[in-house]
Amino acid sequence: MKIIDLRSDTMTHPSPEMREAMYRAEVGDDCYGEDPTVNRLQELAADRLGKEAALFMPSGCMSNLAAVLAFCAPGEQLILGRSSDLFLFESGAPAVVGGIHPYPIINQPDGTLPLEEIERAIGGHQNKRGEGLHTALLCLENTNMLCGGVPLTPEYTATAATLARRYGVATHLDGERIFNAAVALGVDVKALTKEVDSVMFGLSKGLACPAGSVLCAAKATIAKARDYRKLLGGAMRQSGILAAAGIVALNAMIDRLAEDHRNARLLAEGLCEIPGLALTVAKIHTNIVLFDIEGKGLTRAEFTARLAEKGVKILDMGFCLRAVTHYGIAELDIKEALSVFRQVLESV
Ligand SMILES: Cc1ncc(COP(=O)(O)O)c(C=O)c1O
Repeated sequence: MKIIDLRSDTMTHPSPEMREAMYRAEVGDDCYGEDPTVNRLQELAADRLGKEAALFMPSGCMSNLAAVLAFCAPGEQLILGRSSDLFLFESGAPAVVGGIHPYPIINQPDGTLPLEEIERAIGGHQNKRGEGLHTALLCLENTNMLCGGVPLTPEYTATAATLARRYGVATHLDGERIFNAAVALGVDVKALTKEVDSVMFGLSKGLACPAGSVLCAAKATIAKARDYRKLLGGAMRQSGILAAAGIVALNAMIDRLAEDHRNARLLAEGLCEIPGLALTVAKIHTNIVLFDIEGKGLTRAEFTARLAEKGVKILDMGFCLRAVTHYGIAELDIKEALSVFRQVLESV
């Protein structure tokens, strides 16, 4: 049975070009800075995102954590979105590993954190003599998954980062899906990263690499992040095998994200026509579709299980259902998935 796996864009498999590049990758020991393929990926990523330097990381979680540790000392405050991956899904790492105090602000439906709340959070925990909790970092997420893959605009990102800088606070951008944002907004990715102090992006989601993430920032920040990568056990040896796929991703997998966005819209339009299904986030901006089942007497878990029996996998998020389009999912797969949704619901 063919499986149409829409649970996440992490379900992507490397393209034939990536597998070939991985097979042929020139490698060395990256702990000595001697893996030429890792070095090439880092230079390419830094250039593409408009930063001085970059560091290849095993995962997005580690990229975020290394950036947080590079900017925050123990006992300092990190402002972040209540719906952000870093706050909800990264094991509380800033607090657990770094002794860093997370201050969550509720994301607006467009993924933003209200500027006045950022400003209040920065100064709100000190007495008149400036004693108390000191804010060191603001973290934004673009695109924001729980807000339905909505992209933050260049204008919002620049305004928030400029506001933070005015108070001596750095800004880190969790850009796990930053290229989805750039493609959806029709802007150069640099427009989304220009004012932030650091940005990471994921290679293992829509860009279809088997693993990896890249953190980009000023040279001094990357030097610190390199130490934290070591501390966290993320320094790898001949990782050029993985970085080779990353180079293919940056050169060949970005423009095609528009196809994933078209497929997500097609999926959303189709499921709106199926009685019993409704979108949770009405506008589809990128590759994420959040929706729900109502009035059919089926729980989310039951619906998800019945779809899986027929070869269509979606994710039960606990408060809604999620389908994510990605490399390897074609328009025909979306049509097939919609027909399976319909069959399951017509049979109850
Ligand atoms: C927005 C965002 N940031 C960070 C991560 C963490 O990436 P990784 O799974 O590579 O650790 C994810 C993973 O889903 C994510 O969605």
